[in-house]
Amino acid sequence: MNELKDKVIVISGGTKGVGRTMAEECAIRGAKVVIGGRDEAAAKRSLRLIRSYGSEGIFVHTELSRVEDCRALLDCAYERYGKVNGLFNYAGITPISPLDSCDVDTFDAVMDINFRAAFFCCQQAIKYMRMSGGGSIVLTGSAHAWGGQKDRAAYACSKGVLRTLMEHIAHNYAEENIRCNYLTLGWTPTEGEVALRKTQGETEKELRERAADILPMHRMCERTDYVEAIVYLLSDASSMMTGSTFRITAGEYI
Ligand SMILES: NC(=O)c1ccc[n+]([C@@H]2O[C@H](COP(=O)([O-])OP(=O)(O)OC[C@H]3O[C@@H](n4cnc5c(N)ncnc54)[C@H](OP(=O)(O)O)[C@@H]3O)[C@@H](O)[C@H]2O)c1
Repeated sequence: MNELKDKVIVISGGTKGVGRTMAEECAIRGAKVVIGGRDEAAAKRSLRLIRSYGSEGIFVHTELSRVEDCRALLDCAYERYGKVNGLFNYAGITPISPLDSCDVDTFDAVMDINFRAAFFCCQQAIKYMRMSGGGSIVLTGSAHAWGGQKDRAAYACSKGVLRTLMEHIAHNYAEENIRCNYLTLGWTPTEGEVALRKTQGETEKELRERAADILPMHRMCERTDYVEAIVYLLSDASSMMTGSTFRITAGEYI
């Protein structure tokens, strides 16, 4: 359980869902963890757990619609720990946004959080990874990037462009030992997904039942289903792997 020993891992959206699970898991695997997000109470709960595992971490209040906050997330990591070895870019929003009715504000919000913030977090991560002898970036993808459902046009595009960002980083920074891979997550009952479905009148139980009917493997992905893959991508075990798309989606292929 020491795959990430002495590494400094930054997680955007480390307060919820897979981001929160990974903040805690990275600490269990020996990393110092920098949690980005806006929910300070959630981050404090994770930091207490992280300390109880004998590791340490910090919370950086990050409003990702502000580019200065994207930069500050990585700046704080480097100032506190003197290096940055990994970035798990998890934060994202998934509003309903069909092409024929998506308004400009929704489009801008999706692109600002899902793409622009990722772009500038990666820019700053590369700056510090270069000073740290290299590093690994994991971008959070979605099956929507390959077509996607009609009600998520802007979201689908934002996840498609992240794939291009991954390819660009992998292609241009390998010689500096900076890697980037794209992890496609499956349908997962995170806080964000459950809240979205609630606005559509669906409870978590109903969501799980509906998803089980639709998904080839007859259950939603759980946060824990991603842990080993993300640890692998952030660790030296994957040191020769860059430019890959990883898919953990219970067979879902939209
Ligand atoms: N759930 C799924 O089925 C699914 C499937 C495929 C991919 N994904 C991907 O998983 C990621 C999380 O999505 P989710 O809906 O499942 O949500 P979630 O687990 O509830 O997490 C969303 C995270 O993003 C952060 N965040 C959102 N807006 C932010 C902002 N303006 N500034 C800073 N942080 C912000 C939140 O931080 P705070 O709460 O602290 O503000 C939170 O930590 C996204 O990248 C999404 O594309 C999810």
